[in-house]
Amino acid sequence: MSLTHKFENNNEAFLPFARPNISDEAIKEVVDCLKSGWITTGPRVQKFEEALKDYLKAPFALAISSATAGLYVALKAIDLEPGDEVITTSMTFAATLNVIVLAGGKPVLVDVSLDNYNMDVAAVESAITSRTKAIMPVHFAGLPVDLDPLYDLARKHGLYIIEDAAHAIGAHYKGKIIGSFGDIQVFSFHPNKNMTTGEGGAITVRDEILNQKIERQRFHGMDRMAWNRFTKSGSQHYEIVEPAHKFNMMDIQAALGIHQLQALDSFIAERERIVKKYYTLLKDFDYLILPTMPTYSFKHAWHLLAPRINPEATKLSRDDVAQRLKEQNIGTGLHYRAPHLYPFYMETFGFKKGQFPNAETIGDSVLSLPLFPGLKDEEFERVILALKSVFSNKE
Ligand SMILES: Cc1ncc(COP(=O)(O)O)c(C=O)c1O
Repeated sequence: MSLTHKFENNNEAFLPFARPNISDEAIKEVVDCLKSGWITTGPRVQKFEEALKDYLKAPFALAISSATAGLYVALKAIDLEPGDEVITTSMTFAATLNVIVLAGGKPVLVDVSLDNYNMDVAAVESAITSRTKAIMPVHFAGLPVDLDPLYDLARKHGLYIIEDAAHAIGAHYKGKIIGSFGDIQVFSFHPNKNMTTGEGGAITVRDEILNQKIERQRFHGMDRMAWNRFTKSGSQHYEIVEPAHKFNMMDIQAALGIHQLQALDSFIAERERIVKKYYTLLKDFDYLILPTMPTYSFKHAWHLLAPRINPEATKLSRDDVAQRLKEQNIGTGLHYRAPHLYPFYMETFGFKKGQFPNAETIGDSVLSLPLFPGLKDEEFERVILALKSVFSNKE
């Protein structure tokens, strides 16, 4: 399905908030893969994992079918027991919480910064109990969480950190690329992310045992990968060490990923260029509150530019603004409603409205603007003009 729709009453194409950028070389590699006789996990996944290890400066990088699957297997690999608690953020995609529940754990949430939507690291220590097993920060929009104090806390209390880096491939914290240090990182290659494999993700770790457990959890609990079994050098035999799901990435996906990874730095540079233009042009635009950045050193991956609607400047709700932009053929994203307010989480874990006020404020007012490499200057102008007309006409 194309992401570019035509509206009946308007000749201008609908501008989505995200659009994958896929080169002819990548398409050729996918076709070559399809013709090669080997389309599931195999040599291209191996090559992609090697390239990820290089790029992320990680001793181990494992491709997986999605970041959701990656977070789940990471939790299984740290031996999460039923009832164990995982501390995470109240401003994230539902998958971050869902996987904790699916792996048998209990999500414990902390509020976030209203400035940049990242977990309030200072609030984490008081959320730790005797049942806490791990902390799962989210590098929201590609901005690294302040990891030094978080890892200090984790080491002090004997906890793992599983970084939900779904937004953050290519981001750096204090000069180090996310994925090159720390316990476990999970990246997403969903089509709206900074690079894509259609669906897909990757996990980086530094510990060999964790790597082995994740590998098994990725594929049936087998002690060796299936693709070896069908090659001349492989063996037909394998052992099942534990039951597990099937979350492997296909070579067809890795064919895309190899080329997307090569282009990633240029993609991020282009995202950054577009973000700078937004910040410059919207500097005095009172209707939107743009995220502000922390003082520690970082490189933002700019997966999203997600300002908030300023309730002091307009009576329009976020949904009104999204609807009116849509009428002008401008797509936006909603990242995210505060997940603790979904019925399942309120009913199962007793979360209440008002419990995480910053996350709720963000959840009610946030709106992601179009941002992707390949966004043309005239498309960008259309977004700015549409924003100006939405607010000037409807106060
Ligand atoms: C913060 C966060 N975590 C996890 C995921 C899950 O990623 P995937 O779609 O690859 O499963 C997403 C996807 O958007 C996300 O935004």
